Amino acid sequence: MLLTCQSGFEALLGAEVAAARLGAVDASGAGWVRLGARSADPLPELCFAHRALLEPVEICGESVNALAGRLCEWFLGSLRGEKVDATWPSVWQAPIEIPGLGKRLGSVETEFNALLKKRLSRVSKLASPELPRGTGPARGLFVFASDFGRIQAARCAWLGGQRRMADDPAAPSRSYLKTEEAFVVLGREPVAGETVADLGAAPGGWSYSAAKRGAQVVAVDNGPLKGGALDNPRIEHRREDAFRFRPAPGQRYDWLFCDMVEDPRRVLELVTQWTRGRWCRHFVVNLKFGHADALALLDHARRSSESPLRDCAVARVRHLFHDREEFTLVGSLVE
Ligand SMILES: C[S@@+](CC[C@H](N)C(=O)[O-])C[C@H]1O[C@@H](n2cnc3c(N)ncnc32)[C@H](O)[C@@H]1O
Repeated sequence: MLLTCQSGFEALLGAEVAAARLGAVDASGAGWVRLGARSADPLPELCFAHRALLEPVEICGESVNALAGRLCEWFLGSLRGEKVDATWPSVWQAPIEIPGLGKRLGSVETEFNALLKKRLSRVSKLASPELPRGTGPARGLFVFASDFGRIQAARCAWLGGQRRMADDPAAPSRSYLKTEEAFVVLGREPVAGETVADLGAAPGGWSYSAAKRGAQVVAVDNGPLKGGALDNPRIEHRREDAFRFRPAPGQRYDWLFCDMVEDPRRVLELVTQWTRGRWCRHFVVNLKFGHADALALLDHARRSSESPLRDCAVARVRHLFHDREEFTLVGSLVE
């Protein structure tokens, strides 16, 4: 099994995999970790993995044509007995840290597509380069280039839901991208008329993200709002301490957002107050681990009896594509 992650987080992913007893890492590189063992079925929830290529084959070749030709032969062989009559994902990825590798993989993809079109035009027309939105298993073609002469390919993948999001020039912060991505991981987003409490809101990226969908937001932060969040008619700014902020008696927010640079365990306790009190229906919470023990925090967030995830019908913890030294919890409470 080949797991991909954000570059620089391979060791954390390896440690998470070891803690989940998924097997030993037998190789790793920028943005990937390979396990010798067969993949577990079903795969446990992983935070640091963005994607798992299940039972990948390694294809080597000195040239673009050699790689594309071998990949195409393998792919055609893997299709035997399979009826392809719906759109299928053809997802190609190379770590951006290796200069030129993305371009090279792009050339292999173009050549592969041309070969497939010649051999199986009907199947080739149904290919989509889009990474499917959401989490869980997917079938298609998943290719990862670990270096110039070597690619890993698989027909099946497990998707964590992480993906690069498109920026919005009116968004007041980069953080905006995190909540946009978190909605994909949760499989749900605020809609018009819903209410949001955004704790630690400034400069307002998350608030802006909800407001642009028509939600009504209370943005709690002593700091100033900026850009598209400033003077936004759907955003009410309250200069208060988020640890003291409470819904009005009998009020339940549809969403709790929380992105405070504070002790993550204290933030988790606060969020649990919100979920136990049933003060929200869904949440997006970012925990900053900085130089602290990320895995201990992850374990605490997942397993503590005081975790807000315990109150959820759907709960996921992910190191997002747009996260740095932090991970993000998303959840929908049991109704
Ligand atoms: C990473 S920023 C939030 C970015 C925001 N999510 C965005 O999209 O623009 C963290 C914010 O947490 C706020 N914060 C930290 N502790 C807080 C507290 N006790 N009450 C309210 N805000 C707090 C800081 O003022 C800071 O603006």
